[in-house]
Amino acid sequence: MNMPSMHSGGFTADRLLLFGATGDLAQRMLLPSLCALHADELIDPELKIVATARSELTNHEYRNFARAALEKYLPADRRGGMADFLNRLSYQPLDATTLDGFNALAEKVGQPGQGLAIFLSTAPSLFEPTIKGLQHAGLDGANVRMCLEKPLGTDLATSREINDAVASAFPEERIFRIDHYLGKETVQNLLALRFANLMFEPIWNAAHIDHVQITVAETVGLEGRVGFYDDAGALRDMVQNHMLQLLALVAMEPPGSFDATAVRDEKVKVLRALRQVESGETVTGQYRAGAINGKAVPGYDDELGRESNTETFVAIKSHVDNWRWKGVPFYLRTGKRLPERVTEIVVQFRCVPHSIFAGKGATMQPNRLVIGIQPEENITLSLMTKVPGLDREGIRLRQVPLNIAMPDAFSGAVRRIAYERLLLDLIEGDQTLFVRRDEVEAQWQWIDAIRAGWQADGLIPKTYTAGSWGPSAAIALAERDGVSWHE
Ligand code: BG6
Repeated sequence: MNMPSMHSGGFTADRLLLFGATGDLAQRMLLPSLCALHADELIDPELKIVATARSELTNHEYRNFARAALEKYLPADRRGGMADFLNRLSYQPLDATTLDGFNALAEKVGQPGQGLAIFLSTAPSLFEPTIKGLQHAGLDGANVRMCLEKPLGTDLATSREINDAVASAFPEERIFRIDHYLGKETVQNLLALRFANLMFEPIWNAAHIDHVQITVAETVGLEGRVGFYDDAGALRDMVQNHMLQLLALVAMEPPGSFDATAVRDEKVKVLRALRQVESGETVTGQYRAGAINGKAVPGYDDELGRESNTETFVAIKSHVDNWRWKGVPFYLRTGKRLPERVTEIVVQFRCVPHSIFAGKGATMQPNRLVIGIQPEENITLSLMTKVPGLDREGIRLRQVPLNIAMPDAFSGAVRRIAYERLLLDLIEGDQTLFVRRDEVEAQWQWIDAIRAGWQADGLIPKTYTAGSWGPSAAIALAERDGVSWHE
């Protein structure tokens, strides 16, 4: 048994209460992550998991449901001790819209020895009634933590409503807001790269960096999330949370230490320094029928069954208005039904100030750092080198990659689901990789202003063919500045 690390917040939870326990997230991520943590003996044998949702299921039926989810979503070699894991689970049906069932739920949870962690992954409309129900049943004491899964509102106003409702029962130091990108190993590695190496930080600024690109490209389409996605769109579904968190990690000042307050203080400063985007600095798109990896796929309107003005692609030229980043554009783009699944950050450095080889006919390209987050986890630094030879006809230089493939560098290490890390941190009470209220609100503020701009301009998404890199205007957005998207 590995010892749990001790963090602020004081207790390691020995009860976990999962709302939305029959939902998609529970099946794909939460149950598999918990089972994998169990298999690796990372959670205390005493930890009991109470699952709740509207369906009328017995404990036995829920365990069967969980087993089916694990067999589908967790690789067989990570399912060690699955039967024991299933025995940790119990189930209590609940209609969260009324107070009636909460006392029975509290009874099922019982008295925790140390503390209770609650994971709320339900429709946002159920947040408020659920908080009321928890208060009613006394499940809001000093030894209770609350974890919230997105979407946390659809704009600043609705996000504040949710945050206020949660804050009426739990103080901020016991609220854990998930952005699952922060649970990804390569995203955390970004901090190691920046702050555990000497060579990057001195040149990590406007004097040496020309621009930054952040791409989150997906090949999937609507995936049956018709109702949710059409009300959200790419800006709110991906940029408001995941992409702004990546941007904040790239742009933040070095925190004094790797702890929840220091890291989040620095991130929020970046989010607050985001310059309001001007019209002409965003491009939106919506996919039409096309092909991905040689397979025909329908258009967004076909999948939806009607026309819609929701964007499935967005590209933004953004700026962080502070000393470090003066004049450095951050180009962001994300979309569904793009040619490949790739999440990466590209840091494009400036040219050397003077080429000593110019008189010998050599051309140079500036250095570039590419941080691959998924599916490939790698770090590539492009360097200029001399092409071997006697140089009788001039010196030739060529860009070559210095490439670290993380899986090769750490071949023995288990590749974990982002939620494994986040659930463990929730149980142990470490907020470093969770999003603080001021961050969420700064994110929404910036996003709301973009949406207001779109509305004022009457912006309608341009169409793009599924399997392409979005509307051509997105390419033009970067090329106007002499920048090409990294592909
Ligand atoms: C979710 C979005 O937050 O992130 C989805 O709602 C998106 O639309 C998903 O597909 C992407 O996550 P990942 O981990 O697959 O990059």
